[in-house]
Amino acid sequence: MGILFTPFRIGGLTTKNRFVRSATYDGGAEPGGFVSEWQIDLYTALARGEVGLIVSGIFNVDSEGKISPSQNSIHRDHYIEALSRLTQAVHKQGSKLAVQLFHAGREAFRRQEALGRHALGPSDLEHGQDPYFEGACRAMTDEEIEAVIEAFGKAAARAKRAGADAVQVHGAHAYLLSQFLSPQSNKRKDNWGGSFENRLRLHKRIYESVRKGVGQKYPVMIKLGVADGFAGGLELEEGLQAAVQLADLGYDAIEVSQGLRGHDYTEAECRPKIVRRVDEAYFREWCRQVKEKVKVPVIMVGGLRSRYLMEEVLSTGHADLLALCRPLIREPDLIASWSAGKERRAGCVSCNRCFDLIRTGARLKCVLGEKDGANP
Ligand SMILES: Cc1cc2nc3c(=O)[nH]c(=O)nc-3n(C[C@H](O)[C@H](O)[C@H](O)COP(=O)(O)O)c2cc1C
Repeated sequence: MGILFTPFRIGGLTTKNRFVRSATYDGGAEPGGFVSEWQIDLYTALARGEVGLIVSGIFNVDSEGKISPSQNSIHRDHYIEALSRLTQAVHKQGSKLAVQLFHAGREAFRRQEALGRHALGPSDLEHGQDPYFEGACRAMTDEEIEAVIEAFGKAAARAKRAGADAVQVHGAHAYLLSQFLSPQSNKRKDNWGGSFENRLRLHKRIYESVRKGVGQKYPVMIKLGVADGFAGGLELEEGLQAAVQLADLGYDAIEVSQGLRGHDYTEAECRPKIVRRVDEAYFREWCRQVKEKVKVPVIMVGGLRSRYLMEEVLSTGHADLLALCRPLIREPDLIASWSAGKERRAGCVSCNRCFDLIRTGARLKCVLGEKDGANP
């Protein structure tokens, strides 16, 4: 069957193949943030479709970190029961589940302003002061930072109690950990800002808190933004150092992605119009460099569309696992069809209309009409 369908170990977790569903917010949680039956059906389809490891969409670890009303939460014990039903459904189909632990930081500004509050971020920011972010936020106090760190640990413990196989800390894209790591958004002058070591402190303290919550053997992964999507933000050189230090500290796997977003989708984690082979695997070079420097498993994400290319990525040693998001929105059974020997490329054309859709508050689906689908 080839390397794609060989098992792989991340700490104590064994996946049956090298395919990961990269974390995907789906707007399908019950009001209040509970896992819904609709989500259980969605994850069951992915697991039946032979995805080895499903990373959930974002689960907020505290209420300030929540970005959308139809998002999953894990900041109280009463979320455990519905999450357990999700893990059981995934396990029944022979797949594994990791819960993505999330804090939006400044990106929660719309929700927080509607509640009459300021969103929290590393530094104070007025509306319109930042070229890449349209909201405003307030610098977190030391106590607030400590509370978030503790919340990550408690949330991880709940995920474990619900039977999840791993957790993934969201340290990428536009959200809290990326905001702290980027010199563009972190202007603090205390222990949490300024030097690279200080900007990375939150990632390390969150690891320690999560580890305390789940014990030594449980897989703790991070999706790490290793460079921002625009000049003047986090540079790759620092992103690589961050990956090395976090792997040395104990994170069990690193999914390599982008930090802060730039102006449009071409400077974001979900790049548009990936239709030619040369456009695929757009974070491959970052991933290759991370892989060269760390000993823990590395997960590649971003524009993976052809089975042939993915085989080549693994055999050249540029990654250990391959994560897909948009292709599995369009075709949850894509991996199963490859496992059955079909050679076709993913039908997703990376139009990002799924991303536009969830931003309206709707539930996730592929909105590309069958007639538009590229399925060479
Ligand atoms: C609809 C949608 C929802 C997403 N939700 C999340 C999320 O909850 N957490 C996360 O880390 N990334 C999220 N992403 C980013 C993806 O996980 C992935 O990094 C990105 O789409 C690139 O992979 P792809 O080319 O396979 O789509 C989302 C992307 C899309 C399109």
